[in-house]
Amino acid sequence: MTVHFVGSGPGAADLLTLRAARLLSEAPVVLYAGTYLDGEVLAHCRPDARLVDTQHLDLDDITAHLVDAHRRGLDVVRLCSGDPSLYSALTEQTRRLDAAGVPWDVTPGVPAYAAAAATLGAELTVPELVQTVVLTRTQARSTAMPDTEALARVAGLRASLVLHLAITRIRVLAEELSVEYGADCPAAVVAFASRPDELVLRGTLADIADQVEAAGLRHTAVIVVGRALGVRSADVACSHLYDPARDRSGFTR
Ligand SMILES: C[S@@+](CC[C@H](N)C(=O)[O-])C[C@H]1O[C@@H](n2cnc3c(N)ncnc32)[C@H](O)[C@@H]1O
Repeated sequence: MTVHFVGSGPGAADLLTLRAARLLSEAPVVLYAGTYLDGEVLAHCRPDARLVDTQHLDLDDITAHLVDAHRRGLDVVRLCSGDPSLYSALTEQTRRLDAAGVPWDVTPGVPAYAAAAATLGAELTVPELVQTVVLTRTQARSTAMPDTEALARVAGLRASLVLHLAITRIRVLAEELSVEYGADCPAAVVAFASRPDELVLRGTLADIADQVEAAGLRHTAVIVVGRALGVRSADVACSHLYDPARDRSGFTR
């Protein structure tokens, strides 16, 4: 029996992968974090599935559910919001499953940053302007950040930046980022991306915190910062990939 860690995407049921939907429709046990999920995602579960909301459980409780299902010969889907490769506690859970001899695998999902970029209609990598995307978070009452990833250092790249788990600190973060990016740098916040209650705020580092506070936003939002958000199509250089003048004989990817 296997524990399937499955990316449930940013919330919308139709942003599940086909594989995720199939695994959900087959699993007798499903663990999910209610905070990040549109109830419609769970409509993919079979009617007799045992559904466990993990939002109030600790790691020991969650592991106990996973190991117990394995011992009873039941496959489990463990839903992770977005994609399991980002802030999903995958490592700490799989380490415990390895110790208990429980097999597991991973199915990717649409991450929140991609859903937010889609809502914004933004390419985060614009030719000749920015070619790097930084996905990060900041530290408040959470696990310590590695010293080498201090926001001031990361900002020095002036890459397109996506901050997770950071919305309550937006004022101090916007001020800190202004040092490198400039206060006029475009900034956006997308909350509940892809869900019916999605909320989008667009502005600059100078005014985005005012907008967030006025909207009363406290969670489930990404902050996107960078010059890529501010380009009009006329300003943009074209990528070499689709350049009509490019020699396409012998073209390989
Ligand atoms: C624990 S992390 C999980 C990230 C997730 N694994 C991913 O791939 O996006 C939770 C944070 O992701 C962001 N997030 C998750 N779902 C979101 C959504 N639908 N809209 C906006 N931000 C979201 C928020 O910053 C939230 O605080």
